[in-house]
Amino acid sequence: MSSFAEIRPEVFWVGARHPELEVFDELFPTRHGTTYNAYLVRGSEKIALIDTVKGLFTDEYLDKLQKLVPLSDIDVVVVNHTEPDHSGALGRLLEINPDIEIYCTRAGENFLRQIYEIPFRAHAVSDGEELSLGDKTLRFLAAPNLHWPDTMFTYLPEEDLLFSCDAFGAHYCGDGLYNDQVEDFSAEFHFYFDTIMRPFKASIREATAKLDGLSITLLCPSHGPLLRRDPLKAINAYREWAAAPPPSAHKQVLLLTLSPHGNTRSMAGAVREGLEEAGAQVTEFGLVDLNDELVREELERADALVIGSPTINRDAPPPVWRVLSLLSSVTPKGKVGAVFGSFGWSGEATKLIEERLRGLKYQLPVEGLSFRFTPTAKDMDACRDFGRKVARSLTPAV
Ligand code: FEO
Repeated sequence: MSSFAEIRPEVFWVGARHPELEVFDELFPTRHGTTYNAYLVRGSEKIALIDTVKGLFTDEYLDKLQKLVPLSDIDVVVVNHTEPDHSGALGRLLEINPDIEIYCTRAGENFLRQIYEIPFRAHAVSDGEELSLGDKTLRFLAAPNLHWPDTMFTYLPEEDLLFSCDAFGAHYCGDGLYNDQVEDFSAEFHFYFDTIMRPFKASIREATAKLDGLSITLLCPSHGPLLRRDPLKAINAYREWAAAPPPSAHKQVLLLTLSPHGNTRSMAGAVREGLEEAGAQVTEFGLVDLNDELVREELERADALVIGSPTINRDAPPPVWRVLSLLSSVTPKGKVGAVFGSFGWSGEATKLIEERLRGLKYQLPVEGLSFRFTPTAKDMDACRDFGRKVARSLTPAV
């Protein structure tokens, strides 16, 4: 697809394909590359673009546009999201046509003014506001945190078409433009949700609620195939994956331990007794065979996270840092943490893990507990007391 494609009457895909991309944003592996989808809507009175492309593809993008309209005739660029993979061609476009007015959220305008040192005319839209292009209408639906504070959807009611920005996308560049023209990419669709959208489940619930009652027969995300076969399936998948965890009669505690010589695990046994004595329900995993997906699920179910770690070479070992690195990729139910561990020489791990949890805005209701080598009977009593205090700190009282 080196050229544009008409996806509805006078509505065109003008994006870019990047099939050879192996790692998106130098963060996420992309086995089948990605696409940067952008669109042109040619109304009877005004011409609007929906997003642009990554800067690397600016020439290709402008070339596609010029086959459809003189660039000087473009009236509006809708910036659903300012991240540079979608706004990367904006600077060149504005140099060519400085009269373009940008429609975006207030956060989007602020971000654009900081990302690009270019003067531009901007209109910050309100939720539900409409812009008439003559025979076509653009309706802007605020969708903050999918996945930046600036994000919004743009709905084209005359065509039952939603430009959904990053939401409902996939890093997948197939042979065809639409989901019914490519191989099954459900794994990429789910991976994309997990890596990009998952931390924002509450926002996803709010945004998908705004789509209730909207007729959508074509869902046009910013990455991957356009969804014309069963577009609601993608929206319902987000609803399901972003659902709030079911309520539980007991407070849930996730207890994660790493214990090279069994001492930290002995402490964990006593901590668990204390937690359960005080009414908490405990799920315990060793970190030696960490399963990211399983831990993510449990983190989202838990009211509190309790970590038991040894100190090795004056630090917490890599499996502990690994699990700490997962915390920002989930929507935790509760943000209460507690840390304990056995050490041989110096015992820095407990404090370092506590600092990390504090940095992630966790509450630490009980001071970390560390003992040297094998915990004594008195130490084990202290561990039980530690567990009881953590459980009791969870509200409502267990
Ligand atoms: Fe595809 Fe958040 O940019």
